[in-house]
Parts: sequence; structure tokens; C-alpha cells
Amino acid sequence: MGDRQAIGVGLLGLGTVGAEVYRLLQDGDALARAAGRPVVVKRVAVARPDRPRQVSVPAGVLGSNGLEIVTSPEIDIVVELIGGIEPARSYLLRALSSGKSVVTANKALLAAHGVELFAQAESSGAHLYFEASVGGGIPLIKPISESLVAARLQAITGILNGTTNFILTRMAHEGWSFEDALAEARRRGFAEADPADDVDGHDAAAKLAILATVAFRRHVRGVDVYREGISRITPRDFIYAKELGFGIKLLAIARIHDGEVEARVHPALVPLDHPLALVPDEFNAVLVEGADVGRIVFSGRGAGGAPTATAVVGDILAVARHLAAGVRGRSLIGAGTGTRVRPIEDVVVPYFLSLQVIDRPGVFARVAAAIGEEQVSIASIVQKSRGEVAEAILVTHDAPERAIRRVQDRLRALGVVKAISNVIRVEGSV
Ligand code: HSE
Repeated sequence: MGDRQAIGVGLLGLGTVGAEVYRLLQDGDALARAAGRPVVVKRVAVARPDRPRQVSVPAGVLGSNGLEIVTSPEIDIVVELIGGIEPARSYLLRALSSGKSVVTANKALLAAHGVELFAQAESSGAHLYFEASVGGGIPLIKPISESLVAARLQAITGILNGTTNFILTRMAHEGWSFEDALAEARRRGFAEADPADDVDGHDAAAKLAILATVAFRRHVRGVDVYREGISRITPRDFIYAKELGFGIKLLAIARIHDGEVEARVHPALVPLDHPLALVPDEFNAVLVEGADVGRIVFSGRGAGGAPTATAVVGDILAVARHLAAGVRGRSLIGAGTGTRVRPIEDVVVPYFLSLQVIDRPGVFARVAAAIGEEQVSIASIVQKSRGEVAEAILVTHDAPERAIRRVQDRLRALGVVKAISNVIRVEGSV
């Protein structure tokens, strides 16, 4: 089989993931066996070709001209690993519009501009694959969009950010400070270029938007996802949560109710025996639920160069097989229609509240009355005395967000409540 028939690959980016992808793509025999045709890296474009790299790329292959990759006739598959919106968006639209297929790990781009990219792929008949955009090395997009296509999935609950899961795990189990845990996550190559994207939930929100789009087959954008990060979680929250039988995780949750999508990323108390409570360090896990199929859990390494590269190369080979067989690309979502998004105020879950109250007779009764006046029911209440001031820890039954906001206003107005230390949603039952 001559190189004339080879599938040409162009790589945009050669960072943590890109270098591992390049390394995996050197195993020519294995690739040719899997794809049915040789798969050859023809060009790699990076911003600074002179920088030292983890892999050595021949001088004739490495360059800095991304535009050349998306326009060159010798490239069939453009692999985008540069991240961010521009120039990635322009490059990929250009590649797709000229009929080149695309493999990307770019969650931010898909969550913001997926509609445009899917539409361009559909109209050109090009393939657009993005397994590595969510869950690193865990297969999610193909199982959800292909194997589970008949399962009418109704809910997704996931740990989708390795950096924050690493931080929360080390804080909970080893008492590390937030800063030390974040520094270690960065050292290990999990964190985004700007770690605020991890810590504030942007990364998980983008990934949830992609999963919800694929699972519910309607466009959910990153901006449709309600988002809170982990920075207000304190060591004391972990202690109280544990006493009540809970861990704390940054969860990404999407549900569909009669065509209306609920999508949110926020810290949550999770029962200690829940499958997601047991997911440590940078691991990710996704629990999907459908009426006919029940619950399915996917878990594994959700971040890091080598695991994520396996997902990228799996996509390259899937696209190469389609190209070798002359199969035209089709969008997973189709043209799509506007998606109704449920406002966070209407979302109903139990809540954990930790309050600092004055330690004297009748205080609990006043706190309980304020909560009851908003029709919120208390499931459990614990007091920790600390001299003058006591800590009151409450868990409510299911309550709408709007009621919990009014409860907080009422509590702040009570002279006996000195502070509301934290309010955290509870998932996976009280
Ligand atoms: N920063 C991301 C994470 C990398 O920590 O999960 C993988 O997308």
C-alpha cells in the first residue's frame, strides 16, 4: 500500500496532549491496521517552532503556519489541540468548509460555537469528532451518541474537572490547603492555562454543555449552564459534611424535563456511598440515566496528556476508517432547535446550610420558624457549641432555589444569626 493512499493528518498544537498524540501517531503499522489505510502526520503547526518539545518532529514537518494546514491538499484530517476560541474557530470552519474532517479536544470552542461548527460539518459532509473534549481518556461521546442512542437518556451527573476533583480530594482526605493542591495539579499537567477556568467551573460547564448536547440531541451552550466554583468550600464544610454522611464534589448535572433542559455546575454534598463520592484525585466519572437502561457509570482518567491523547487518536482512526470507506460525515445533532433552559431559581434540591448563631435558649426555634415560613422542611439539624456562638448545620428536604434565597434573607434579618457560613446543594438523596 503506497503513501499515495495515505490519510494525511495535520496537527495544530504540540503541547501536553499534542506531544502524546504525535508520539502515538508514529506507530504506523498499528495505525494502518486499525484504519485500513496508512495514517501519516504531514504537518504540525505551533506558535513557536524553536521551543524545546517533548517529542522530536522533523524540520520539514514542524512549522508555524496553521492556515497552511487547514488549506493544504495533502491534509485530510485536521487535529486541533491549541484550545481557546480564536484562531481555532476560524481554522476549523475553514477546514470543514473545504471538506476536511476535524478532530478536536477544544471544549470551550464547542460549548460556545458548536452550532456553527456542526452546521458547517453537516453541509460539507465532513466528519467532526470530539471525544477528547470531555473526560480525557474516558469514552463518553461515542457511547452516548451511538451505543445509547436508543436509551432516551434523561439525566447526566458527572465529575468533569480533574483539577478541582484533585483539589477537593486532597483537602478532604489529607488536609492540604487549596493553594498546595492547585499547585500540584498544575505541576501534573491537569490544570487549564488559566486555572480559574477549572476552579470557577468554566471547564466543567463547557464539558457538560457538550455532553447534554450529545445526550439530549439539542444544542446546549456553555452559557446555558448555571455555574458556581469551589473557592468558597472550607475545611470545616468537609468536616460537617462527613459527620452527616456526605463528601463534597464539584458536580456537573444536566436533566431534560418535557423538552426543557436543566444544566448546572456547582459544589454539592454527595452521600459517601454514592458512586461519584468515591471518585478520587484527577479521575472523572459520569453517571447517565435513562428509563429503559437504568444507571450507567463511566469513570477513569479525565485529564492529562497521555489518556487524552488516546481519545484523540481513537477519533483520528474512526475518521480515517470512514474516509477509507468513502462515508460522508453527518452531524450528531442536525440543525437543532432553540433549547429551553430551566432557570436556576426553579431547580429543586435539598440544601446544606451552615450558620453561626448565638448560643442561647430559643435560637433554634427561631431559625426553624424562619425556614418553615418559606415552606422549606428541615431533614436534620446539628449544633456545635463554640462558646458564645454555636454552629448550626441543617440539611433541608427538597426545596426550590428561590425559596432557599428567601430563607437566607429571613435568617440574615434575625438578630440571632451572626453569619451564614455556607449554603451547598445536596445531590444523590438526603
Ligand atoms: N483542566 C482540565 C481538568 C483538563 O482538570 O479536568 C482536562 O480537560
